[in-house]
Amino acid sequence: MRTPIVMGNWKLNGSKESVTALIKGIEAAADAAPNVEVAVCPPAIFIDQVATLCANNSIEFGAQDISTEVSGAFTGETSTVMVKEFGAKYSLVGHSERRQYHNETDALVAAKFVAIQANGLVPVLCIGETLEEREADVTKKVVETQIKAVIDLAGIEALENCVIAYEPVWAIGTGKVATSEQAQEVHAHIRSWLAEQSKVVAEKVQILYGGSVKAASAKELFAQPDIDGGLVGGAALIVEEFVGIIEGAK
Ligand code: PGA
Repeated sequence: MRTPIVMGNWKLNGSKESVTALIKGIEAAADAAPNVEVAVCPPAIFIDQVATLCANNSIEFGAQDISTEVSGAFTGETSTVMVKEFGAKYSLVGHSERRQYHNETDALVAAKFVAIQANGLVPVLCIGETLEEREADVTKKVVETQIKAVIDLAGIEALENCVIAYEPVWAIGTGKVATSEQAQEVHAHIRSWLAEQSKVVAEKVQILYGGSVKAASAKELFAQPDIDGGLVGGAALIVEEFVGIIEGAK
């Protein structure tokens, strides 16, 4: 059995005050769901604050993006070693907003994936097709290519210790959630494609769905056999919504 994960991606949102309110608002629900792992990915500047707030609850946390480098002359970057020092468990990598607005290629995403693992964090590899790609019926090919870039660099075994987040780009922040059938179809494909390379990886890897997940849609999505939780953007900033999504994963 794979433990479901409900992970909030706060993106570029928050203040010292709202970060405290959000963690205080969700911690009881997280602690009351021992069979669900709850995690948040705040902007890097709030990681220290989140670490302090989560010292005595079950909420895990991670970075939204990370440098391939550990230290040095790389202005503006945050390294795996730094976030690890604060107790982070995860780092997202390859989020579609990074791919879209920062021109992150599959090769760079793969290099970041390797850096994350090399320094003891768990990568959450974000993949997903655009609307044009879905309409051109190449969704499966797109997600295979995105995962293959990591396998080519790190080997299939590297995927034993990672999380995959399938996030159709057309569903992110649009209110257009994929139907549970649409999501399950892609999740099942990813798992069977991985199984051709390693049954162990295919069985073990948690595949989260992301893209306009709300409390109202969470339960049905998470009931699908190959959906192991969610990566949640907008709804992760609203206590009642995020708590409802945690409930949906129980
Ligand atoms: P959304 O974002 O839930 O606001 O669609 C999800 C994500 O980008 O991870």
